[in-house]
Amino acid sequence: MSGYYAPEAYGELTDGIREILIPAEEIESRIMELGQAISRDYEGCNPLLVGVLKGVVPFIAALLPAITIPIELDFMAISSYGPGSDSERGVRLEKDLSSPIKGRHVLFIEDVIDTGLTLNYLLKNLRARKPASLKVCTLFNKSRRRLIEIPSAYVGFELPNLFVVGYGLDYRERYRNLPFVGLLKPEVFQPSGE
Ligand code: IMP
Ligand code: MG
Repeated sequence: MSGYYAPEAYGELTDGIREILIPAEEIESRIMELGQAISRDYEGCNPLLVGVLKGVVPFIAALLPAITIPIELDFMAISSYGPGSDSERGVRLEKDLSSPIKGRHVLFIEDVIDTGLTLNYLLKNLRARKPASLKVCTLFNKSRRRLIEIPSAYVGFELPNLFVVGYGLDYRERYRNLPFVGLLKPEVFQPSGE
């Protein structure tokens, strides 16, 4: 028995969905596997998990209880600015980590890696603070859209080159609370708003 409502229960949110790509149960069970792998790999390391608000919240919430070793948690917040096009987009740090990471084993937790530009900026910023190690765990990966090489130690799901919503991912701040990942109907999604 799933801990979620049926997709139809999400009313006008599901009305905007064309197709469910990954159902809630699949996401949850894959996150359990990621948690097991992290627990194994970071045994004895007391890693610091770093998430970027806001899209990563559902992923982190499900991942934490799937990890069985001691960990610590911190968050950053960013905003993108500049023209819509990927290559010209800039990133501004809105909220920094609350403690230093020098000498720590840092595991960066992402909801989705698309072009890689955002993450590249953040990883550069964190690397300058001299952590003992810095790896990336992303729930969703769109490797075909990548403009910059990002090594990901843990990947939940490989996604097609399409704009998706749900499980933290938004379109104009909506749909983050859907427990599955899906495609929007064309009449809802206007690519120019991306
Ligand atoms: P980047 O292109 O890798 O820099 O991704 C930047 C950000 O775009 C991600 O952290 C998400 O917030 C957002 N994003 C990328 N792809 C999607 C998507 O399919 N749906 C919703 N947000 C997305
Ligand atoms: Mg994000």
